[in-house]
Amino acid sequence: MDCLTKFNSPQLKTLHRGKVRDSIRIDDQTRMIVVTDRISAFNKKIKTPIPTKGAVLNGIANFWFDQTKHIVDNHIIQQVDDYITLVKEAVPIRVEMVVRAYLTGSMWRGYEAGQRTFSGVTVGDGMVKNQRFEHPILTPTTKDEDDTEIDEQGILGAGLVSAAIYDQMKEKALAIFNFASTFLRDRGIILVDTKYEFGLLNGQLIIIDEMHTPDSSRFWSADDYAKNPTAVAQIDKEFVRQWMLSNKVNGEVPLVLIPEIIAETSNRYQEIYNTVTGQVFYLVDMPSKVRVYHNLVKAGVLKSAVVAIVMDDLSQKSEAARLEKELAAYDLCVQLVLLEDIDELSATYNQTIEPVAIIALGQTQPTLDAHMSVPVTSNSKDALRGLNLHALRTALDK
Ligand SMILES: Nc1ncnc2c1ncn2[C@@H]1O[C@H](COP(=O)(O)OP(=O)(O)O)[C@@H](O)[C@H]1O
Ligand SMILES: [Mg+2]
Repeated sequence: MDCLTKFNSPQLKTLHRGKVRDSIRIDDQTRMIVVTDRISAFNKKIKTPIPTKGAVLNGIANFWFDQTKHIVDNHIIQQVDDYITLVKEAVPIRVEMVVRAYLTGSMWRGYEAGQRTFSGVTVGDGMVKNQRFEHPILTPTTKDEDDTEIDEQGILGAGLVSAAIYDQMKEKALAIFNFASTFLRDRGIILVDTKYEFGLLNGQLIIIDEMHTPDSSRFWSADDYAKNPTAVAQIDKEFVRQWMLSNKVNGEVPLVLIPEIIAETSNRYQEIYNTVTGQVFYLVDMPSKVRVYHNLVKAGVLKSAVVAIVMDDLSQKSEAARLEKELAAYDLCVQLVLLEDIDELSATYNQTIEPVAIIALGQTQPTLDAHMSVPVTSNSKDALRGLNLHALRTALDK
């Protein structure tokens, strides 16, 4: 199975490329989240993607949004591809609602160093690593580069959200956490901790971002925890981390995984999907770019192809407008561009999800020929042929 590592279409504006997900603008009310196969560990980007990981994470998040919609409304509009979901654009609340059921991770490191109050929650002395709290606790952080601990007073004092909305966020975060913990416990999984993000949509609180994925949560196997609570491993990434630690090169963890580790990691993600959702993970056997293209065209998110008319100065504008009019008869995306930065142009039009053809005006042809991997032509008929779309060929034959 090939990997989806990046989403690139000249028809849509990229809002943000995160460590794992690409966020794309559809319109003012809608954003598109593409969960790629990228993976990070030890806060480093790993160079080798994990096949199917994106589909697993997208599927798990959407499963949870659906399961918890009776507790709180969420941003989901529609899953349009195994890797891709359309969501409602909300005004994000700049707080990460972290819920923890066990003393572990960064909190344990702070505890070990003598810290007892975390985001306003005070815990007693004498606790041990990975010990369970009596009740899940809320340890919010700011939503910025360094995820700083912040307590309720700090949140309200900084005006990040109103007291009335914050009360709802606390209640909903704990309710969802408890619901999911019970659900997963029956499947032998401990939901150790997680992070929720909320937003406002027409003034109403909704939950956004992702939910209970291995990228936003920590999971342990209940069996492993019972056997050896202080040494229990995270069920998704621990395997990759251990391999990286035992294969250091000059004291540094490797950022390229070997095929065996990639395949095993991919399988582990799929197993998590199966356990959580109770469904068997399945992805149609087809190159991901082809599948994504067909699904997005079908969903009306993309036109089936792009023709870019490239000028070297604005004196060619009337010629470009004439070509644009000619092409308006076809259901395509036609773009007029000025050749300024060829690197930018090739980043936009090479390696896209959809077919692209270029019409070169003025003196742009030699530069375009040298840098573009898509057909470069001088008229609309050749551009249409260059797209090599079945529907267009039929139209041209007529
Ligand atoms: N429905 C939504 N409306 C507005 N913003 C959202 C919505 N869902 C997610 N986001 C925002 O999109 C961003 C996604 O970034 P992410 O993929 O997590 O990258 P990073 O690796 O930088 O955290 C987050 O800032 C999140 O708050
Ligand atoms: Mg994030």
